[in-house]
Amino acid sequence: MSVTAVCPGSFDPVTLGHLDVIRRAAPLVDELVVTVVENPSKQGLFTIEERLALIDDQVADLPGVRVARFQGLLVDHCRDLGASVIVKGVRGAEDVDYELQMAHMNRRLTGVETVLLPADPSLSHVSSSLVKEIARLGGDIGHTVPTAVRDALLARLATA
Ligand code: PNS
Repeated sequence: MSVTAVCPGSFDPVTLGHLDVIRRAAPLVDELVVTVVENPSKQGLFTIEERLALIDDQVADLPGVRVARFQGLLVDHCRDLGASVIVKGVRGAEDVDYELQMAHMNRRLTGVETVLLPADPSLSHVSSSLVKEIARLGGDIGHTVPTAVRDALLARLATA
């Protein structure tokens, strides 16, 4: 039986932390769908299309990985795709607490399981929101995102 997993997130924008989790999760399953979850009540720095393109560019060489977008309950998306697993990265205890609650809720809703991958320690300080803040304030974000994402971020902030 083939296993499809969903790796969901806002990805505004995708970071090296996200990409590390995606690269490590991909060989564990037959298909990994990286899903940009749309939150209509939250205005992102990048549009959903831009986020998808930035991720797509980085995962193009990974077999069995594709990108998708979704708005609604994550468990419905998993059901639509026939995905039995949700994959999330966790950077520390706070992430684990937050993710556990969602994992229990999602399993209660449809039985979908969640696999939590510990972030690589070298990336455990990286988050999209911090990357945006550092970039806005003129700091170096080169160690946190791929070059194409850094360029897109600096270009966006220059026009914002
Ligand atoms: O990158 P983020 O913002 O931490 O991702 C959080 C996300 C989008 C994965 C989470 O908020 C989510 O699953 N949203 C979809 C709506 C949903 O299913 N909510 C109930 C979760 S138990």
